[in-house]
Amino acid sequence: MDIVVSGIRPTGELHLGNYFGAVRNFLRMQHENQCFFFIADYHSLTTHPTPADLHGNVRRVLINYLAAGLDPEVSTLYIQSDVPEVTELYLLLNMNAYVGELQRVTSFKEKIRKHPDNVNAGLLTYPTLMAADIIIHRAHKVPVGKDQEQHLEMTRTFANRFNRMYGVDYFIEPAAYNFGADLVKIPGLDGSGKMGKSEGEGNALFLSDSPEVIKKKVMKAVSDSGPTEPNQPKPDAIQNLFTLMSVVSTPETLAFFEEKYDSCQIRYGDMKKQLADDIIAFTSPIREKMEAIGSDGNYLRKVVEAGAEKARASAAKTVREVREIIGFKAF
Ligand code: TYM
Repeated sequence: MDIVVSGIRPTGELHLGNYFGAVRNFLRMQHENQCFFFIADYHSLTTHPTPADLHGNVRRVLINYLAAGLDPEVSTLYIQSDVPEVTELYLLLNMNAYVGELQRVTSFKEKIRKHPDNVNAGLLTYPTLMAADIIIHRAHKVPVGKDQEQHLEMTRTFANRFNRMYGVDYFIEPAAYNFGADLVKIPGLDGSGKMGKSEGEGNALFLSDSPEVIKKKVMKAVSDSGPTEPNQPKPDAIQNLFTLMSVVSTPETLAFFEEKYDSCQIRYGDMKKQLADDIIAFTSPIREKMEAIGSDGNYLRKVVEAGAEKARASAAKTVREVREIIGFKAF
């Protein structure tokens, strides 16, 4: 049985990128593996949320996770800051992480370009904290989207380096995982790169969006006036609509619009209407569950307490063994 770990930063509601990039795979894995899923609230401090925002965001993500189908009876669902052992492993890994390699990480370079006024040490060492999250449970598989690939590579580097430095075969090399397929990148609606919370108004579709909001966002998605010759490659914004359709619609629906595109008969209004309907059909049951789960504070507390207990047991064992390997010994 493999050990699976994955996490998500609490910075708002989950969007379709989170769902199809990571959460869907968690759900497929939870019954056959030993799974740990957590809410990365320490990580979210790099952007300085207020105390009220932090708590509210953690709560929202917890509700989203549960409504999406994560079963806390079979998986360990916990909040990162409930497992302070992870910060000790983070510190220990930081001693063998080099500033140069951390400065070369793409996500760090992007963050400092976008927010030059907030280049904090937590941002620089984000990959060591993420590595600690994963190897603290000695995970084999990490279901994540394409944007996390480099972080997983760093995790393997840190795990291997530890083994080499201490001449042990302790940490396992974890792999980013998508059932043998390439990791996915779900596009947003604004015609550019990926769906993301911070990419601007209207780019992301959230699991909690009402049907009206989904319709409005999808109808406004960037498109063009259509192909003028048959069988042409699709411009990025159009490809994005087809990619979204490929995850929420049936293969027949997708094939229908592909054929219309290739024969220059496509009407984007019709395609968007179908896309919006299929997204609504997909998200509605999840959105409805959110309401019931969100109003049951007792249940949420029980889930979080049980998750913390199970996660801490696993994390404490690793930290104990790592301390021993490093040479911290009892007198
Ligand atoms: P975060 O919070 O940005 O995103 C959570 C998960 O959603 C995936 N994702 C996407 N996948 C496909 N297309 C998209 N447009 C898209 N947007 C987001 C992300 O790849 C991720 O899997 N560093 C992580 C959180 C983290 C973590 C970990 C993950 C901390 N420690 C340990 C795994 C294991 C992050 O910022 O993800």
